[in-house]
Amino acid sequence: TWDMGSFIDHSMAEIRNKVGEGKVLCALSGGVDSSVAAVLVHRAVGDNLTCVFVNHGLLRKGEAEQVLTTFREQFKIKLIYVDASRRFLDKLAGVTDPERKRKIIGEEFIRVFEEESAKLGQIDYLVQGTLYPDVVESGTATAAVIKSHHNVGGLPKDMKFELVEPLCWLFKDEVRVLGSELGLPEEIVWRQPFPGPGLAVRIIGEITGEKLRVLREADAVVTGEIAAAGLDREIWQYFAVLPGLRSVGVMGDERTYAYTIAVRAVHSHDGMTADWVRIPYDVLGKISNRIVNEIKEVNRVVYDITSKPPSTIEWE
Ligand code: XMP
Repeated sequence: TWDMGSFIDHSMAEIRNKVGEGKVLCALSGGVDSSVAAVLVHRAVGDNLTCVFVNHGLLRKGEAEQVLTTFREQFKIKLIYVDASRRFLDKLAGVTDPERKRKIIGEEFIRVFEEESAKLGQIDYLVQGTLYPDVVESGTATAAVIKSHHNVGGLPKDMKFELVEPLCWLFKDEVRVLGSELGLPEEIVWRQPFPGPGLAVRIIGEITGEKLRVLREADAVVTGEIAAAGLDREIWQYFAVLPGLRSVGVMGDERTYAYTIAVRAVHSHDGMTADWVRIPYDVLGKISNRIVNEIKEVNRVVYDITSKPPSTIEWE
């Protein structure tokens, strides 16, 4: 492993050398890789870096606010924030097929990003949070495409700038150490993997504003209780899913007909295979109680006890 202090010095010198006085752009996703890359490049080139953060309206509760506070207030990084939620929701209206959802989100993301970067004038360099395993992997042919895995960081092919990839020698655990060293908050440094299309692939069927609100609240409960139980760094991914089905329940003397929330938590090393986590019953109990008590649109909570394969981690 690296000595992080000297890695930072070395890497800043290298970035300055390459970029000089050029203008640098970075698409922030809120994930650990693009965040660490942005902060490192900012240390090297200051205000010659501009970050663009597109909120597609499919983020988790508090996520956009966290990115804004961290980058604008804490690091004083020039950040263009685009709330494109409405635009994405409109494009997704009536769409139920998972791959079509991914395609629409990916294309719309590129369109918004292009519009924003066009406003910035000449851009010479683009920062990407590519890690060492990505570099190695991209040289190999992938097997059959199960899901298109569109990463929202995917960028238009005809854009003309050179790439700056300051993390290309690092593994994920080293990126986390680097992130802490650079002063990024724990929530970002320890963030679990989150799919580019976001909550869109955790709502089965059509995406609506109401479903997004319900899922966001339920997911915040899952995340909060997993953290409260001290399990957040042990579990690879943990989240809520809205299968979009309603079932009968009872509340006081009233019959209810409301949503089911599924809870998913898996151990994995690389996302290729995964095992469901034996979360203690009392933690599951708390999650369930809080969800049905706090979210009136939900009257049932189930726990997903399948591994990958044959399931996948996400439900879509
Ligand atoms: P699955 O559901 O295929 O997920 O078992 C494996 C890992 O990939 C993530 N995932 C995605 N990431 N865009 C992404 O950037 C996507 O469309 C996408 N689909 C799944 C998933 O969260 C898990 O970590």
